[in-house]
Amino acid sequence: ATKSRTRVVTDGPRVDGPRLLRDLAELARFGADDRGGVSRPGFGRADADARRHLIGRAEAAGLAAAVDPAGNLVVRRRRRTAGPALLMGSHLDSVVHGGRLDGAYGVVAALEALRVLAGRDEPLSWEPVMVAFTNEEGARFPQAFWGSMALTGELRDPRRAVDRDDVPIAGPLREAGGDLDRIADAAWPDGSIGAFLELHIEQGPVLERAGVPIGVVTSIVGRTLFEARVRGRQGHAGTTPMDMRRDAMATAARVVLAVEELARSGACRVATVGALNPEPNVPNVIAGQVRLTAELRDTDPARLGAAEVALRAAVDRIATLTGTTIELAPVMRATPVATDAGLRRVIARAGSELGLPNRTVASGAGHDAQIMASAAPIGMIFVPSAGGVSHAPEEHTGDRELVAGGDVLLRAAWELCRL
Ligand code: GLV
Ligand code: MN
Ligand code: MN
Ligand code: MN
Repeated sequence: ATKSRTRVVTDGPRVDGPRLLRDLAELARFGADDRGGVSRPGFGRADADARRHLIGRAEAAGLAAAVDPAGNLVVRRRRRTAGPALLMGSHLDSVVHGGRLDGAYGVVAALEALRVLAGRDEPLSWEPVMVAFTNEEGARFPQAFWGSMALTGELRDPRRAVDRDDVPIAGPLREAGGDLDRIADAAWPDGSIGAFLELHIEQGPVLERAGVPIGVVTSIVGRTLFEARVRGRQGHAGTTPMDMRRDAMATAARVVLAVEELARSGACRVATVGALNPEPNVPNVIAGQVRLTAELRDTDPARLGAAEVALRAAVDRIATLTGTTIELAPVMRATPVATDAGLRRVIARAGSELGLPNRTVASGAGHDAQIMASAAPIGMIFVPSAGGVSHAPEEHTGDRELVAGGDVLLRAAWELCRL
């Protein structure tokens, strides 16, 4: 934990708290589900509607909004400096039955910060820019971090991106305002980004337990996502003797447990099978095929790599044992990263100057910031999550804490842009 002796100051910009909270509440309507949360998978209808809504909010504030070929929404001041961008933002999409804050909060706060900076008659040497990244979660199309990877030029094989029903991404991307044929144009030139700042809910219990309103993020966990396809033989559940089966479902169950065991045995920090799609998914039919995801996370790239190798070996053993075939293909890799030390100081100082206690915290969740780290120094600000809960409808952070986080983002951005 860091404690700063900086005195509280009264000058400098502050967010319009009620406006920020109102924007957040309005955004939560897009994809609102019957469990009080939000289902807004990237490239779905609600995602496209939310993007359109935000464009309206930006334009109403006299800002210029544009959607890039990857579907990212980029908002700028109309009159700009020639300096590098101070990029701020997060993602607009959510997991299925997620909360209203994961991603959306950082987007809305970045828009608010940009609105305040644009409204001040003050010369800036860095240009503040808001971004709402597309498909950070990968809830429908498993290529998580799609938008930030396009912006940093790291999107691999975008044409091969399909959803679980093998629908190609081109059509849904077009509906989001993007264009697969021009996707390379979404990449920003080297040196055009001075820094990237992302404000996000913690999604874990550390800040709440410590009673500290602001987290200065030190590192972001690395993550590899695989898609596995188990192929067995479809058959009759009543007549096929047990010794004649090649049951894709029972095989998938072994894979699920093997993935869990990787983390339980300490090969990596956490390991999860979160999605499983058996075919035909009928009670009296032996499944012929199962598609499932397997994701591994660790803060050490070497351990993550070794865990990948171990997973492959385990899967091969299971295939041999069960007489099935199992394909294991990586669909997304995000390396673990450290945040920039200078930006950590800027964020901590902004918090202290606002009278907000702050401490360092590591992120076990993935963020677009870790992708942006290849293009620019990154900084991340966390606010507490009630009960540490996220990726669930119960996700919650108090209004005062949400506004406080917005103020820290704005103040840090202001300091950087005035350089
Ligand atoms: C990335 O979005 C994650 O699930 O942590
Ligand atoms: Mn998330
Ligand atoms: Mn998120
Ligand atoms: Mn995420």
